[in-house]
Amino acid sequence: MDKLVINGGKRLVGTVEISGAKNAALPIMAASILAEGEHQIRNVPQLRDVSTMGRLIANLGAGFHLEDSTALLDCTMIGNFEAPYDLVSTMRASVLILGPLLARLGKAKVSLPGGCAIGARPINLHLMGLKKMGATIKLESGYVLAKAKRLKGASINFDTPTVTGTENIMMAAALAEGRTIIENAAREPEVTDLANALISMGAKIKGAGESLIEIEGVRRLEPMDYTIIPDRIEAGTFMTIAGITGGDITIKKCRPDHLDALINKLKDSGIRFKKVRDGIRVIGPERSFAVNAKTMPYPGFPTDMQAQFMAMLCMADGTSVISEKIFENRFMHVAELRRMGADITIDGGTATIRGIPQLKGAPLMATDLRASASLIVAALAAEGQTTVHRIYHLDRGYEKIEEKLQLLGADIRREKE
Ligand code: EPU
Repeated sequence: MDKLVINGGKRLVGTVEISGAKNAALPIMAASILAEGEHQIRNVPQLRDVSTMGRLIANLGAGFHLEDSTALLDCTMIGNFEAPYDLVSTMRASVLILGPLLARLGKAKVSLPGGCAIGARPINLHLMGLKKMGATIKLESGYVLAKAKRLKGASINFDTPTVTGTENIMMAAALAEGRTIIENAAREPEVTDLANALISMGAKIKGAGESLIEIEGVRRLEPMDYTIIPDRIEAGTFMTIAGITGGDITIKKCRPDHLDALINKLKDSGIRFKKVRDGIRVIGPERSFAVNAKTMPYPGFPTDMQAQFMAMLCMADGTSVISEKIFENRFMHVAELRRMGADITIDGGTATIRGIPQLKGAPLMATDLRASASLIVAALAAEGQTTVHRIYHLDRGYEKIEEKLQLLGADIRREKE
């Protein structure tokens, strides 16, 4: 197992290139199941979650190969319909193969993902949607068993917008008979990217990016040659790093228009932005100001940026209040930030952060992906040395993180435990 050792306190300056979006790559890889033939998916980040998804699809009978940032998936021979526990338990997003498998083979057996560090994360809405489309669903020995001769279009209304739920239904509906309408659909850019990938395969989808999505099922889809959007959460993480280190970071290959809610909050906190070709330049202040934020479904403030934003606010001038509205247990980073001297109190889903002038380095434990990122943000500005243990969480979602930070002047290295 690896750890990261960071000597903080450096002002980070330079240019960083953003990788493809993990949360778009995963559903788009799953979408390859829908069509026979060889798919080429470009700008795929080399991450542990991506190789897990590749293994999961290979296990169904497909060929999978990741070369540089292009994933080649040959889905001609999909025959197995089971996603086993040992793969699903390492990555919740495995549930994304449920919809496509059911649409392609008429049956699927997918291990139920358990709870995870950030909350219970049920999949009842995915199952409700598939049932409405005519699937019979049984839960047996920790597995979801789903069957349907051919799925039928249906009108599906989500109580709460769910990203992977919307994606699962969209993929299932692409090959279903007739029209599916998803109301209160998730509007995240990754959902739109999946819709665009499906459209490139011949699917008929309207309204992705809005709350009402309409999918007219087709009989057959073609293999795709598709390029994934840049990772907005990776870009956002570098923005908070510029903020906390008073740095000057030009973020290339990024889509700032996917980050409006975060950028507005960062501006309120004293960070300046300048548009550049193919990206954005982010200039941190000497000390940022406190600001309040509440996580919401897109286009609101992203829950996946809450931890990193909080880390930045630990050294801001004044008191900030952050409310987490998406997941019930997404403050795991707080205890670790406190070990660095942060003054944070939690009351239910609300954290109050009283800014202090200087965090101090400490040994820390990463608990989930974005919590890990927040510890890196804090460590880069802390005085002295921080060691972040269990960084396999970080490796699930950030490609070459220490190399990218080193290029910006950070003193960070990976060591074996
Ligand atoms: N929910 C239900 N029932 C369901 C599905 C969701 O009650 O059947 C609830 C959840 O418990 C949660 C809310 O709906 O309170 C929203 O969850 P959502 O389903 O949108 O989350 P997800 O699809 O499981 C994706 C991302 C997460 C990201 C969330 C929210 C992927 C692979 N994962 O998860 O990413 O936090 O959307 O934006 O797209 C990460 O990258 O670190 C990460 C956790």
